Amino acid sequence: MSPLAVVEKDRRGPSAYDVEAVRRDFPILSRMVHGKPLVYLDNAATTQKPQCVIDAVSRYYREENSNIHRGVHYLSEVATEAYEAARIKVQRFLNAPLFCEIIYVRGATEAINLVVSSYGRTHVGAGDEVIISAIEHHSNIVPWQMLCEEKGARLRVIPVNDRGELMLEEYEKLFNPRTKFVSLVHVSNALGTVNPVKEMIDTAHRHGAPVLVDGAQAAPHLPVDVQELDCDFYVFSGHKVYGPTGVGALYGKASLLKDMPPYMGGGDMIRSVSFEKTTYNDLPHRFEAGTPNIAGGIGLGAAIDYVTALGPERIAAHEHDLLVYGTERLSEIPGLRLIGTAREKAGVLSFTLEGIHPHDIGTILDREGIAVRTGHHCAMPVMERFGVPATARASLGLYNTRQEIDALVAGLHRVIRVFS
Ligand code: ALA
Repeated sequence: MSPLAVVEKDRRGPSAYDVEAVRRDFPILSRMVHGKPLVYLDNAATTQKPQCVIDAVSRYYREENSNIHRGVHYLSEVATEAYEAARIKVQRFLNAPLFCEIIYVRGATEAINLVVSSYGRTHVGAGDEVIISAIEHHSNIVPWQMLCEEKGARLRVIPVNDRGELMLEEYEKLFNPRTKFVSLVHVSNALGTVNPVKEMIDTAHRHGAPVLVDGAQAAPHLPVDVQELDCDFYVFSGHKVYGPTGVGALYGKASLLKDMPPYMGGGDMIRSVSFEKTTYNDLPHRFEAGTPNIAGGIGLGAAIDYVTALGPERIAAHEHDLLVYGTERLSEIPGLRLIGTAREKAGVLSFTLEGIHPHDIGTILDREGIAVRTGHHCAMPVMERFGVPATARASLGLYNTRQEIDALVAGLHRVIRVFS
């Protein structure tokens, strides 16, 4: 069954974005929280799931449940076909040249760890350097830090200006013959900054360094084209693009993946095993040991169908409108400081209110049915850079509305009244 929003879009012509029809595709959005209609503004943490994703996961367990790549029986073949068809959907979603360049993982964190453990361990040695930025999520800091400690290598950090934009002239200066890798966030989860990754990848390549792009917060908001970016690796999480938790994808150029050692050993990643010697399977299976999250992969395929049918450009335009509106409305609130005012932003409104702890903001908003995240957002160095222990963060999704921004603003006035 086609998503409601898509059917209604087709009736209304290609340019209409009917957010009310989109909302009807997401059953959870009609529930009440603390007796108030849910206003879900925590999409950077995880997104809600449309009915078609819920149906795909449920159909797999109801009608197709079986292990994949292993059985000759009917159900195994059906499940294998559905899981591999979803891989091709991911390939198209990222515009990757080859399906074998898409590795299923648990999420962006695992994808980065895979690249660090496999590519990083074999290419980074004592005295070498890895470049990351000052606005990375912990998942793109800690694995590289662990590698650098193990190898005696050095982590170099691109600084960020007061708006939350990376300082590109400083980035260029970090390169030297010991630079072995660059790992960059596409869209910051704490600030919403959209980094000029294409330009930054070109710079890294001029210096001979491959680049991983952490697209966890970009894939839900922007069209992604790995061939246009020419990144060497791109990672994202399924649950942030309206798919299930526990599944995500790593794109890697086949020319790099084919020479990388396996990440984990086990079933499915081998061609032959004896006590003397094991030989490994072809890509992508070489990096997929053990029974994977089959239902998750199938659900991710359904989520990609949904997002693709709505149109990533149209989603980006809708969210941009909300971001501009939200920025204006929040700026009217006395004592509110927006953290992250980059010229290129997507999906995130992070802020503090003078004299009020962000956790108190989150708790009072919750009583109004409004879900935001408060804390350091797994980006403690960002909080330190902006001199705050935490922020409150409203993060947008394709089903949010201007009325929900108005509800947030009304909720914040209530927070101020409680503390005045
Ligand atoms: N990385 C997710 C967030 O920003 C969990 O909330």
